[in-house]
Amino acid sequence: MKLIEVKDYQEMSRRAAEFIIEKVRNAHAINLGLATGGTPVGTYQCLVEDHKKNLTSYKNVTTFNLDEYVGLSGKNPNSYRYYMNENLFNHIDIDASHTHIPQGNAEDLEKECIFYEQEIERHGGIDLQVLGIGSNGHIGFNEPGTSFNTGTHIVDLAPSTREANARYFASQEEVPSKAITMGISTILKSKEILLLVSGERKQEALVKLFEGEVDERFPASVLKNHPCVTIIADEAAIPEKVRN
Ligand code: F6R
Repeated sequence: MKLIEVKDYQEMSRRAAEFIIEKVRNAHAINLGLATGGTPVGTYQCLVEDHKKNLTSYKNVTTFNLDEYVGLSGKNPNSYRYYMNENLFNHIDIDASHTHIPQGNAEDLEKECIFYEQEIERHGGIDLQVLGIGSNGHIGFNEPGTSFNTGTHIVDLAPSTREANARYFASQEEVPSKAITMGISTILKSKEILLLVSGERKQEALVKLFEGEVDERFPASVLKNHPCVTIIADEAAIPEKVRN
């Protein structure tokens, strides 16, 4: 795992966007895996600015998002489909039909999981997967204890995750209790991974990631088994122990 230390959230966002833009510009076509949450918002803003200024084109880009809440349609402002449209897709020249997010309101959720996994394969797999990390070590919505062998599946969200995400909802009770997420094995199949980490509340997770064993009780630890992981983390997220 390669660690790039940056000053703050803004610099993390800029460096992450540069990393992605370079891949998009150099590839004839590319499949990007994308994350939601607070961490990548600034990165998406930088991608949009660059698209406007430098005309980086997303015509040959296909995207697969990590996850979606169960029960929310894409029209719901708290859905990840809505978030992606608002933060990125509506502002770049990507073909909407090239953007994939699990359907949280699918009638048959099990079928949706199988379909999503097959769609990723059918498109040739993910070239670059962008990840954030939960303070409990979750990646996607793979909570602690998830088997490393899982593909796309339905999960019960951990109380700490529902609490962390309540800031986007009117109340904590409104945060869905389930989600569809790419599994750990889906994520590990990506050719390359870019993990973004910002802020003091992620410090403990970063220490565990660097110093702990690979263990299903800390899902992100599996990234140590992947041959091509870059982590961009800001000063607030990197404690002394990791820095030295
Ligand atoms: C989002 C996702 C999650 C988040 C994680 C961190 O698609 O899969 O794993 O990356 O919960 O969230 P933030 O960035 O809000 O701290």
